[in-house]
Amino acid sequence: MKMKKFVNPLPVPPLIKPFNKTKSLTSYKVTMREGRHKFDKSLPPAIIWGYNGIYPGPTFEVRKNERVEVHWINQLPRDQFLPVDTTILPPEQQKVPTGISIVHLHGGKTRPEFDGYPTAWYSRDLEFVGPEFVTDVFQYDNNQRPTGLMYHDHTFAITRLNVYAGLFGTYFIRGKEEDKLNLPKGKFELPINIHDLSLNPDGTLFYPDQPDPNPSGIVPSVVPEFFGEFMSVNGKLYPFLDVEPRKYRFRIVNICNSRFLSMRLTSGQPFIQIGTDGGLLKKPVKVEQLILGPAERADVILDFSQFKGKSITLTNNANSPFPDGDPVNNNTSVIMQFRVTLPLSRKDKSEIPNQLSKFKFFKESEAVRIRDITLDETLDQFGRLLLLLNNTPFDKKPITETPELNTIEIWRFINLTEDTHPMHIHLVQFQILYRQKFDVELFEGTGELEFTSGRIPPDPNERGFKDTVRANPDEVTAVIARFGPFSGLYVYHCHILEHEDYEMMRPFEVVDEDE
Ligand code: C2O
Ligand code: CU
Repeated sequence: MKMKKFVNPLPVPPLIKPFNKTKSLTSYKVTMREGRHKFDKSLPPAIIWGYNGIYPGPTFEVRKNERVEVHWINQLPRDQFLPVDTTILPPEQQKVPTGISIVHLHGGKTRPEFDGYPTAWYSRDLEFVGPEFVTDVFQYDNNQRPTGLMYHDHTFAITRLNVYAGLFGTYFIRGKEEDKLNLPKGKFELPINIHDLSLNPDGTLFYPDQPDPNPSGIVPSVVPEFFGEFMSVNGKLYPFLDVEPRKYRFRIVNICNSRFLSMRLTSGQPFIQIGTDGGLLKKPVKVEQLILGPAERADVILDFSQFKGKSITLTNNANSPFPDGDPVNNNTSVIMQFRVTLPLSRKDKSEIPNQLSKFKFFKESEAVRIRDITLDETLDQFGRLLLLLNNTPFDKKPITETPELNTIEIWRFINLTEDTHPMHIHLVQFQILYRQKFDVELFEGTGELEFTSGRIPPDPNERGFKDTVRANPDEVTAVIARFGPFSGLYVYHCHILEHEDYEMMRPFEVVDEDE
């Protein structure tokens, strides 16, 4: 299928309005349901699953410390319309229909019962609920650094399908520090949710029902990764955005199932990155090539003032799998276009301040514990690729990662595979300490960690708070975080959704010794 590029205007998801707001609580209702969505002008509408039936879901705008309650109502059809591999479902999930869901606010500091534990799923009208189910009314305290979060489905072993079907959206936390900065806002600030997808000729979403080749013979079967044929932003293929010759703020999210992005602008101008997953950086950083793994975010300013009349394309050249897989092609090397065609509506008084935010870096000496976590690749009983953390499947007891409430720990991801994995830890916003090369063969033979390079500091645009980090092959990636403010059961996992769904996820429990 050939798609014409830059014919769809960039859509901006609508803001959601609360149905009730008091001094102490803002209440929302969101219904997950089937909807119809056109991914491209030339195509008929396709079935999607969306929050409030739209793709992507509506955008939340909340203030820091605003207490928010969301009733996430499941009105999805009985069964998932994409191919479900039942061989990877736990027994309790094999007995229920597949139209189940549980939402996670990615990057949020959320109490465990509202965090979207993968087995806390529920079906339409709560007819069936998972073993960890507590409620479908979630509370968010928003007691954290303002930033751009995303909310998305997190159901065990079918997250890849539910998110691909459209169950994701944007959630902004705002705060005073940012208010004072005079950054571009209003219509000059836009979410950019980048997703790769494949379509059938009738415009419907295509997701493979087996890997190619398929050694197991099982159909439908989980695939080791999914790389879509086309690129979309906010639900449209290769959109364009008409812009004024001035500064804009873009909140870029890689919401792809598996694809990494390595982006540039054809104007040669840099991205001026002001924030990461966890909020503003200390200072703006000029980035020529912006790399984002699945679930990583970048808060950037683009200044179009020198490009009147020009069309600027946002390009991608990340191999898939990343970093050493297949190169991009004509379809995957292009994301969207900015056209500097609008007249300046008023003088651009927005600024890019030299100082953005103040925060402390954790010190290694503050950590009470170092945990080593291996990223492993093996084969399942059917000869299919199986990715694990610490060589342990998700539900194997006991829970091995049990940080004490409010203590600081260092987690070292030891990547024994050939690909980069975007590692995400719930509850916390961590900082990257370093990456360091090591002797993989020696480690695999003896368990001995011998470094073969010095410590590589995080990239300048990674020197803030993160909830997802690229753990590269042959490297140890060390992150540091304070585990709090809540105790209880959470998960950490690879954010390649095909990996997360098939065992590259583990629970952790924050334990409160005083309880
Ligand atoms: Cu964005 Cu546990 O996920
Ligand atoms: Cu992975």
